[in-house]
Amino acid sequence: MTTAANWTTHARKLADLMRERGDITTPAWHAAVADVPRHVFVPHAYEQDNTGQWTGWDTADRWDRVYATRTLVTALDDRRGFPDPVSSSTNPELMVRMLELLDFHDGHRVLEIGTGTGYNAALLSHRLGDDRVFSVDIDPDLVALAGERLNSIRFRPTLIAADGQGGLPQHAPYDRIIATCAVPAVPVSWAEQLAPGGAVLVDLKLAISAGNLVHLHLKDGGTLEGRFAPRFASFMAMRHENDEIVSVPPVEDVDGERTFTAAAPVPPWNSPVVWFLAQLSGLPRGVRFGMVLDRETRQPYEATLAAPDGSWTRINLAERTVTESGRTALWRPIEQAHRLWLDSGRPNWQRLGLTVDKYGHNTVWLDEPDSEHRWTITDN
Ligand SMILES: C[S@@+](CC[C@H](N)C(=O)[O-])C[C@H]1O[C@@H](n2cnc3c(N)ncnc32)[C@H](O)[C@@H]1O
Repeated sequence: MTTAANWTTHARKLADLMRERGDITTPAWHAAVADVPRHVFVPHAYEQDNTGQWTGWDTADRWDRVYATRTLVTALDDRRGFPDPVSSSTNPELMVRMLELLDFHDGHRVLEIGTGTGYNAALLSHRLGDDRVFSVDIDPDLVALAGERLNSIRFRPTLIAADGQGGLPQHAPYDRIIATCAVPAVPVSWAEQLAPGGAVLVDLKLAISAGNLVHLHLKDGGTLEGRFAPRFASFMAMRHENDEIVSVPPVEDVDGERTFTAAAPVPPWNSPVVWFLAQLSGLPRGVRFGMVLDRETRQPYEATLAAPDGSWTRINLAERTVTESGRTALWRPIEQAHRLWLDSGRPNWQRLGLTVDKYGHNTVWLDEPDSEHRWTITDN
């Protein structure tokens, strides 16, 4: 039976397991995972089954599932007509990987963008002292709940309900900024709020799966620069109060179809570097993509892309045939990206980097900042 007395056994087991697997390499983060009661921050979670249905469960009876290397979805939003996860407690394995990458030192001050449950703010408070931890979330209810839960274990970091796009200027400078939501471009305000020697770790995503964690260092002159992390990771996208819900017309058969054979990987989002390069090579922002499943076998047989202007592409996975219709050729940027990727020796994430200049221009580059292959991120 799960009792208040034995959560410590579960937490220590999780910390030990992560150390055995090489997910934790520093004693300070091992101690934080072993000492922070994750169940306090996640009393209730949601899980999706393979039909897409979400069900809630109380974590109190299932600490084996709480003290585990899994993400726990904690908030759903159905404004788009279906439940959409908008907050979660990130997988501790990924959380600690990010914390270790950021190389915290005693005395560092940190800004977290995306308080969520408050679990990561608790890990940070354990490591640095709560007076050095600042965390913002766009959702005031989440901030209030996280504050109560942190206080219940005697941590009092500074939590503020705000859009993290602007950082938290009133408490700057910070030595580290960690974002637990994905951004389509790194805001220059974060660079402005860093102390000399400061660093940022954030998931840069231009579309779902199209991007990765990028580790940026503040340079003289206020520029941020660094490379993408070796291992792929993914966070939910940053949202803003006035976000529009973009609707994409349903994929329909119309006249004027074009059919050809794919050379690029299908589906392209299974090759995240190619998929990322495709977004940089002109795939319009806001393209929806998905799979069509066979009704009987429930196996995918077709991948689809649909653009906000009504253009669409279907890719038959077995035959690799691409059929498209509409004004925008959606497959062309994917082929171009794939060709560049092959010609460049199949680069992994670490060969890609990002520079954020003092005007806020985000430029992705291959191998070196002055490479011939550079792309400035635009809203296209
Ligand atoms: C993956 S969760 C954060 C997990 C959290 N660090 C934890 O330990 O539980 C992502 C969070 O980012 C928040 N978020 C989304 N857009 C934001 C924004 N513009 N500013 C600040 N927080 C934002 C969401 O409300 C959500 O709580």
